[in-house]
Amino acid sequence: MIRPAELIQRKRDGEEIADGEIAGLVLGYATGEVPDYQMAAFCMAVYFRGLSSRETFALTDAMIRSGETIDLGAALGRKVVDKHSTGGVGDKTSLAVGPIVAACGVPLGKMSGRGLGHTGGTLDKLESIPGFRTELTIDEFVAQVRDVGVAIIGQTADLVPADKLLYGLRDVTATVDQVSLIAASIMSKKLAAGAHAIVLDVKVGDGAFMKTLEEARALAETMIGLGREAGRQVVCLLTDMDQPLGAAVGNALEVREALETVRGRGPADFTELVLDACARLLALSDLGIDEQEGRRRAESAVGDGSAEAAWRRWIEAQGGDADESALPRAAVVREVTAPADGHVTALGATAIGNAALHLGAGRRTKEDTIDHGVGVVCRAKRGDAVRRGEVIAEIHARDEPAADEGARDVLAAYAIGPDPPHERPVLLEVVY
Ligand code: URA
Repeated sequence: MIRPAELIQRKRDGEEIADGEIAGLVLGYATGEVPDYQMAAFCMAVYFRGLSSRETFALTDAMIRSGETIDLGAALGRKVVDKHSTGGVGDKTSLAVGPIVAACGVPLGKMSGRGLGHTGGTLDKLESIPGFRTELTIDEFVAQVRDVGVAIIGQTADLVPADKLLYGLRDVTATVDQVSLIAASIMSKKLAAGAHAIVLDVKVGDGAFMKTLEEARALAETMIGLGREAGRQVVCLLTDMDQPLGAAVGNALEVREALETVRGRGPADFTELVLDACARLLALSDLGIDEQEGRRRAESAVGDGSAEAAWRRWIEAQGGDADESALPRAAVVREVTAPADGHVTALGATAIGNAALHLGAGRRTKEDTIDHGVGVVCRAKRGDAVRRGEVIAEIHARDEPAADEGARDVLAAYAIGPDPPHERPVLLEVVY
C-alpha cells in the first residue's frame, strides 16, 4: 500500500522514489484510488524537483502497465513505423505524414494525444471530421493498420489509460513542460502501440514546451534512452516552434491544410517538415531504402495523387466523412491587416496558440468543449515582406465580439520591422 501524501512530500523535498512506489501511484491513479488533487500535487513536485532516469523509466513502465500493449510487428508480420511531436502551434504533421507513408507501402500505427495548454492535439483535429472515431478497439486498430496502412487513435481504457488521465490533468495544472513527464507520456504511448521505428519531432522555441536547443536535446536524449531500453529505433528531429508551423492554427482549419499538403499544395515550411519526416520514416522501414530515396518516394506519392487516395481510405476507415465540405466552418471570418510596410520579423507562436485557444479551439479546463471550426490563419509568416493594409491573418470566430478580441490578440503577435530577420530553417538538428 502506498501513501500518496508521503510520496508527494518526499518528492517535494527532493528525494528519489522507488520503482514500486511510482508504479503504485500511477496504477492507483488509473483505477481512481488516487484522486486528481494528489496526482496534481505530485506532478507539481516533479515539475520542481525532476525525476532521475530510473524514475522516468519506472514512470513510463507503470503508464504502459496501466493498460494493454500491442505487438504490431508480430500482428502484421512486418516492421511498423510511428511518429510523434512534443507539441506545437499549427502542428498538423501527423495528419499529412500518415497517408503519405502509407501510400509508399509502409504501415503507420499511431496513438496520439489531445491539445495541451496553448498547443493543439492531433485527436482534437481529427475529431473535427464528422464521424471520425479516435477510440478504436485494439483489434480494429491492428486490422486497420494492416488493411489500410494507417490508423491514428487515442489513449483508451485499454491502451495507456494512465496517460489519458494524466495528460488531461497536466494540461490544466501547469505541469506540462517537464522533460520526464513529457518523455514518459510520449514514450508510453509509442511503446504500448508497438511500432519498431519511431521519428520524434521535438519542438523548440517560443511556442514549444522546450524553449532552448539544450532543453530540446535533453528531452530527445531521454526519449531515445527510453526507446533503446525497449529495443526500438528512435530518431529525434529538433524543429523550429518560434512561429506557428504552416498557416492554419485551429482544428478543422488544420485538417484542411494537412489535406492540401497531401495534395502538394501546402505551405512551404510545413511541406518541408512533412517530407523530411516521411523520408526518415521510410528509411527506417523495411523497404531497405535510404533517406534520399525515401524523400523521392514521398514526393512522388504526393505528386501522383496516391497520398490523397490513402488519406480518403484512412478517414473513411475510421468512420469519418472524407469530403472536405463536411468540415465545420466558423460563423465569422475577420481579416487582420498590416499596420505598416516592412517585414514580419517575428510571429509569436504562443501568442497565436493562445489566441486560437481563446477563440475556442482548445480547452481552459478539463471539461471545456472545443469549437472545431474556429482558429487563426497566418497569411504572412516570419521573413515575409508586407505592405500597410495587406491581409496578414484571418480570424475564424464564433461571433463578432470573439473576432474583435482574436484580431487584437493576433495583431499583437506580429512584429513588423524595416529589415528581414535572420533565416531560421524549420529543421534545426537531428539527434540519433
Ligand atoms: N505530447 C504528448 O503526448 N505528451 C506530452 O506530455 C507532451 C506532448
